[in-house]
Amino acid sequence: MKGLVLAAGKGSRLYPMTLPVCKPLLPVYDKPMIYYPVCVLMQAGIREILVILPPGEEGPFERLLGDGSQWGVHIEYVVQYNPRGIADAFDIGAPFIGDDPVCLVLGDNIFHSLSFERQLVRAGRRVERGETGATVFGFYVDDPRAFGVIEFDENGKAISIEEKPRKPRSNYIVPGLYFYSNEVVEIARHLTPSARGELEITDVNLEFLRRGRLTVEKLDRDFLWLDAGTADNLLHAGQAVRDSQEMTGRYIGCPEEIAYNRGYIDVAHVHATGRQLSQTLYGQYLLCL
Ligand code: DAU
Repeated sequence: MKGLVLAAGKGSRLYPMTLPVCKPLLPVYDKPMIYYPVCVLMQAGIREILVILPPGEEGPFERLLGDGSQWGVHIEYVVQYNPRGIADAFDIGAPFIGDDPVCLVLGDNIFHSLSFERQLVRAGRRVERGETGATVFGFYVDDPRAFGVIEFDENGKAISIEEKPRKPRSNYIVPGLYFYSNEVVEIARHLTPSARGELEITDVNLEFLRRGRLTVEKLDRDFLWLDAGTADNLLHAGQAVRDSQEMTGRYIGCPEEIAYNRGYIDVAHVHATGRQLSQTLYGQYLLCL
């Protein structure tokens, strides 16, 4: 399975912060935002990752993430010149995806729960084995109007998804994490822009639903999911990461730890990075692994 991180939006809801620094490089508490979605892919067991960037940002991303070998993964970069919509990721990413299934994660989404890794691996396997064409998640929010909203029938089966509805039919939204079979490349290629001029990820999900090949997994209410795309959400995300790390003693979005747990890198490697960062709690955490 290949992994895509879509990190190419203008970040205009975070101006002026994102005028000199692009959104995925902003800090969420003690790490750059992009660490979190990259870690989601690593937790899903994905080792080939394509990061989709805005024009002119290759240098900073390459300095931060390199080619991924320090974490035992392979990271490539590609530029999205126009923000044509989330589903454009599959067109831009098509040569990288090849004939494989793919997982897409949005560059400003933060996910965490203690059982998340198991859930991710299961979702990926189901798509890889062809048991379903797509797996997306359903997360309960109080105000779903800014998201893709899922409607369920009385048996809990998904029957519709609507992007940013004025009158939502449920409180369950689709967060920015999607597992797809290779069919997605062909589906995305045939999409037409929505009324707001974007190639919508919701239209991709609707096509899998129409084909009877969409699985929706509800996330627990205690799951942490945040779209860190506004100033309030960015602050909230930073506080949530800090609170969770302090309470559990376990870090969220720590690629060295995931790579070590998965056997991609050894402890000497983790400690070498820990020593480089030893003036931070992050570095000290690595030294204790
Ligand atoms: O956060 C979950 C929601 O993300 C879903 O519930 C919605 O169905 C989905 O459409 C999306 O809604 P947003 O309004 O939050 O999407 P936004 O335009 O903010 O884009 C999400 C991220 O993707 C953001 O970090 C910028 C990046 N992006 C977006 C577009 C449209 C790109 O890199 N390129 C693009 O062309």
